[in-house]
Amino acid sequence: MLTLLYRSDAVSLLPFSALADICVRSSTNNRRLGITGFLVEHEGTFLQVLEGEAEAINRLFARISKDERHYNMAVLGRWERPGRSFGFWAMNFGPLDNPSFWQGRFADLRDGEAFRLRSGDAETAMAVLCQAYVFAGTVAGADPVIGDFVIG
Ligand SMILES: Cc1cc2nc3c(=O)[nH]c(=O)nc-3n(C[C@H](O)[C@H](O)[C@H](O)COP(=O)(O)O)c2cc1C
Repeated sequence: MLTLLYRSDAVSLLPFSALADICVRSSTNNRRLGITGFLVEHEGTFLQVLEGEAEAINRLFARISKDERHYNMAVLGRWERPGRSFGFWAMNFGPLDNPSFWQGRFADLRDGEAFRLRSGDAETAMAVLCQAYVFAGTVAGADPVIGDFVIG
């Protein structure tokens, strides 16, 4: 099972509806491909984690890389792991507009430029995705158990 983590910059700021559209299409596609994951966008910076069989992930990532809605993609990590940590949704996204998301350890990242600069750091990116994933579960009234993700 491959986990792929990347960051990218949006070509232009996308409205909520455009992000929701990406996620709805993605979850239909990803479910068919046995892929799960999570996406966040903050003031024009994307972070996404994808989990699934290596061949399926590589093929999907090649398609996402050609998407003209974003650029400056950087793969932050590829890990072969036995299980999934983001297995609750085939794809979902965490709107980070709730102030309580930014309290505590992410307080310094709320500023869009600070977030963009730090988004290339794998550990920070994964920590944000993990927190956003759990947050989205709380908002949805679900309990998506997060497997411990340790960047080794
Ligand atoms: C930041 C970002 C993340 C995306 N993630 C996925 C994804 O997880 N799965 C997916 O199928 N498409 C994803 N897409 C969209 C793909 O690039 C592509 O538009 C889509 O797969 C085409 O699918 P369709 O032919 O069903 O419209 C993403 C696009 C962007 C900009």
